[in-house]
Amino acid sequence: METLTIALTKGRLAEKTLKLLTDAGYDCSQILDGSRRLIFEDEDNRLRFFLAKGPDVPTYVEYGAADIGVTGSDIILEENRRVYEVLDLGFGKCSMCVCGPESAAHLLEHHEKIRVATKYPRIARDYFYHQKNQTVDIIKLSGSVELGPIVALSDVIVDIVETGATLKENGLDVLETIIPLSARMVVNPVSMQMKSARIRELIDRIRSVLQ
Ligand code: PRP
Repeated sequence: METLTIALTKGRLAEKTLKLLTDAGYDCSQILDGSRRLIFEDEDNRLRFFLAKGPDVPTYVEYGAADIGVTGSDIILEENRRVYEVLDLGFGKCSMCVCGPESAAHLLEHHEKIRVATKYPRIARDYFYHQKNQTVDIIKLSGSVELGPIVALSDVIVDIVETGATLKENGLDVLETIIPLSARMVVNPVSMQMKSARIRELIDRIRSVLQ
């Protein structure tokens, strides 16, 4: 039996992903023991897991360093890698939104040239240029994007909203919703062919836990 390598996303999605794999009968005990090791194995099921930063997960999968990846649909859209999306895992639900002070709402209606701060330049560009036909300046940030309108770096932001608490605490609102998001499973296209039986079995086991 060939080994399957699975890239998991560190942080918010990790706990629920590991629970899902455990419920599907895979042994994630090595990863759960709190060590700083980066790679873990379930020898009985011939699985190898590693934890990576979200945006790197589709990269590992595209290059075949991992056969399978689990990450957010925001990251899959932004990274735009050649991977097959095979399963919506139903957790990590949130939305990609245009947010800003209420006073910026009219800038979106009148198609003015505005500045948009975001960690997601591809998603922001696609939304404004192709869906809204609005010319904007996209400013790429690495985090704490809510600062953008507060310090007048940008008029609005494009970012993830989960509970809405970060926006509320910073006096910002959702102005438009771009797309709902959740955790997804992606597969390397070559692995899908070469390890088809093993990958299908894993997908079936996970799907039956989700139902
Ligand atoms: C994300 C996102 C928002 C926040 C939304 O940031 O960029 O800032 O979570 O969550 P909420 O609606 O529940 O408040 P993250 O915590 O990943 O940190 P970062 O901004 O530093 O990347």
